[in-house]
Amino acid sequence: ICKTIKYYKETASTQTVVKKLAEKDFGEGIVVIAEKQTKGYGRIKRMWSSNAGGLWVSMLLKPVIRPDESSKLALLFSIVLNRILEKKYGIRSEIKWPNDILICGKKVAGIIIEMSAEQDIINWVAAGIGVNINNSLPEDLKNISISIKEVLKREINRAEFIVALLAEFESLYFNFQKDGFKQFLEEYNSKAAYKNALVTVDGGYNDAITGKSFGIDESGRLIIETKNKFEKIVSGTLRRA
Ligand code: BTN
Repeated sequence: ICKTIKYYKETASTQTVVKKLAEKDFGEGIVVIAEKQTKGYGRIKRMWSSNAGGLWVSMLLKPVIRPDESSKLALLFSIVLNRILEKKYGIRSEIKWPNDILICGKKVAGIIIEMSAEQDIINWVAAGIGVNINNSLPEDLKNISISIKEVLKREINRAEFIVALLAEFESLYFNFQKDGFKQFLEEYNSKAAYKNALVTVDGGYNDAITGKSFGIDESGRLIIETKNKFEKIVSGTLRRA
């Protein structure tokens, strides 16, 4: 897939660009990259700092899966990023459910999945990935975020990074549509941050839940053992309790 790349020096958000292309019936696999975003955003409408030097990319996908499975794409991209950091740069990272990539406990990358569906059919998915590569981080994010440059103490070739990302994603995406997410479950859980630790999940539809984290199940739900039972959580934001 990923054969056409649209490149912007600056745009509000590559997600917005992809969503517009999707509405115009563009096909699967268009990739939009921006050097800088003026209105980059993340999950739960948080703003996403997108200075020049980072990798700000969105992809138009039309997966043949049920709409309720679309969140698994975020898990898939998490695995892709984790693999690239390890294989290509020798950096060990952790995946904080559902889709943050952490190095030394700090966020290096985030993923957002937006979707349009009717009944049981997905029209399109806009998958956005932000990776702090060579970009400088604003002062107020420095204690919670990190860049690859900061870790390796050198500039990273972003073209190489994106090529690796698209190639790795393609093969996982193919296998995912063919055989489902189960084949990646063990890998995801082996990289999961805070596993067996006491955590709190905020947000989603319910009150905050605190308990011991067991990683995710086949459906991508986070399993938490509270005082009296196992909770399976569909969405929310995870932190150490
Ligand atoms: C998150 O951690 O909440 C997800 C962050 C996703 C950021 C990327 S950068 C490229 C794409 N364009 C956006 O506006 N957001 C995503």
